[in-house]
Amino acid sequence: MEAIEEIKQRLDIVEVAGQYTRLVKSGKNFKGICPFHQEKHGSFFVFPDKQRWHCFGACSTGGDIFSLVMKKEGLGFNEALRTLASKAGVNLPERSREKELRQKHERLHEASRLARDYYYEVLKSAREAEKARNYVKSRGLNATSLTDFKIGYSLPGKQNLKNYLTERGFTDKELLEAGLIIETESGLIDRFRNRLMFPIHDYRGRPAGFGGREMDGNQPKYLNSPETPIFNKSNIIYGFDLAREEIRKKDQVIMVEGYMDAIIARQFGFYNTVAVMGTSISNKQIDMIKKATTNIILAMDADEAGEKAMLRVIEYENHLENEIKVAIMPPGRDPDEVIQNNPGEWQALVENADPLCDFAFSKSSSEVDLTTAAGKQTLVGKLLPVIAQMNSLVRQAHYLQKLSKMVNVPEAKLESSLREFKTRQEVRSYTSGKNQKISTEKVFASPREEYCLAMLIQNPELIEKARGLEGKYFKNSENAEIFRLIRAGNDIESMRQKLDGAVAEHMEKLATRPISPEGLESKIAECILLLEENHLRSILQNHEHVLSSPELTDNEKEAVLKESMLISQQLKELFSKKRSGIHQMRREKANYDAG
Ligand code: UTP
Ligand code: MN
Repeated sequence: MEAIEEIKQRLDIVEVAGQYTRLVKSGKNFKGICPFHQEKHGSFFVFPDKQRWHCFGACSTGGDIFSLVMKKEGLGFNEALRTLASKAGVNLPERSREKELRQKHERLHEASRLARDYYYEVLKSAREAEKARNYVKSRGLNATSLTDFKIGYSLPGKQNLKNYLTERGFTDKELLEAGLIIETESGLIDRFRNRLMFPIHDYRGRPAGFGGREMDGNQPKYLNSPETPIFNKSNIIYGFDLAREEIRKKDQVIMVEGYMDAIIARQFGFYNTVAVMGTSISNKQIDMIKKATTNIILAMDADEAGEKAMLRVIEYENHLENEIKVAIMPPGRDPDEVIQNNPGEWQALVENADPLCDFAFSKSSSEVDLTTAAGKQTLVGKLLPVIAQMNSLVRQAHYLQKLSKMVNVPEAKLESSLREFKTRQEVRSYTSGKNQKISTEKVFASPREEYCLAMLIQNPELIEKARGLEGKYFKNSENAEIFRLIRAGNDIESMRQKLDGAVAEHMEKLATRPISPEGLESKIAECILLLEENHLRSILQNHEHVLSSPELTDNEKEAVLKESMLISQQLKELFSKKRSGIHQMRREKANYDAG
């Protein structure tokens, strides 16, 4: 049996959902407060016989046990799979290369973990760490922060850590690979010496690298781990593992720039704070954040929030699919100083954060003389490129209007300049990038899902014809995951690398399933319509289950009925689409037969 099947059989969705919210029996189903949105009355249902869940409240969505865990824990499919597999006691198959790699990574993590704990102990109790302890005190760090962030100290000697880890069975090669030691003319020595050590954890809380701060004027101020197999800066956000839960709860993340800033923020109770390491943020980091929240507040210097930064931030916003706000720091101070000096001031800065674009607009306009044509020209020259880069047409229109008012030039005029700014490519990317968010919710088991995927895997060119296909039409999370990768442009080889063993196995099956090459285009079109139909029908079915439950209030009933009506309407539209499609196909066939 496939591992995924086995997991589904062994685990009961009622039990898993029951850990997220209190469920009470309602007819043959279970009902509770939705774990995904705020509500007073329970609109979250679990159907034991179908092993599915559905929320008819604000979420108006549902899925299987995997999507439940993904949504609640903010995990990707692979991680949810691993979590549930270990819960169910099911071993996931691994391919040998992957296994090797994983074992190697585990060794590197282990070395980093031991190094981290070693540095931590040294700071806590070594006699030679007195100076470091005084420094820590002078920076206002308390004991909880030292423990939370596992802050440590690397002794000045050349091989303290190296000897410590060698005794524990690590080879030089492993220590080099983990970035803990370096090669010099006089041999292998510790990379970090006489520095205050900030361990850097990945999103799963595994120690991956370090930042080491000098304490007596040495260069560089911070020495960081190099890129290693387990430390990739563009994948890591400092403090994210500690902050994640709070970020989700508050539905907001505050991003600062420095290790110290993030630590002090937490120490003063701002638990949803993380630090970006380095100046640019990667799409991968945005993806990580996006699973927990789409509300980002960046703490920035007034200088930093200039036009150059603007263009970059618009890119982030496009990827985030939400605007980003900025909290502007008082001149010459960073969050660490602001918070330690007056936490209330920090709180106010964060609460009053403005959309970055608004800030940039008013800042840029204050720098020019808007009573002159030249001043207007300069301002338009600065801000139009920013507007041109926005993905969202609504936001674009909003800021175009704003700019038009500022310079007192009709919008239509600005709009035509705006068009000049855009190359064809840009135009294409903003129309197609508009709505690529792929839902991960699934709907219902059917060989049709797999048939459809098999067609797409074996004939990647078909994806062009499958525009109408959406992730949510796939009832099974594993199928939705495969579809997500196909849609993102992965070929078989790259899917093999990205998918976890169990899903990879499933994918291989689909890839080798015999599919006749005739009429693929119409087959896929038909398949999509059927999947959509199944999707809508199963929502209606969920509604019926919900309605059959006793003790539903009138309001609740009304909400469900309203949603049902919407869905029925969509079904009707689908039928008429289907009918015209069939006519079309008949016509083509008739032409073909005649010719
Ligand atoms: P800052 O210079 O603002 O440092 O750099 P900080 O975190 O406020 O530290 P203190 O308060 O001076 O002790 C911000 C971030 O840039 C990276 C680090 O991640 C740092 O936290 N950085 C800075 C380096 O990686 N190397 C450097 O030499 C300097
Ligand atoms: Mn600082």
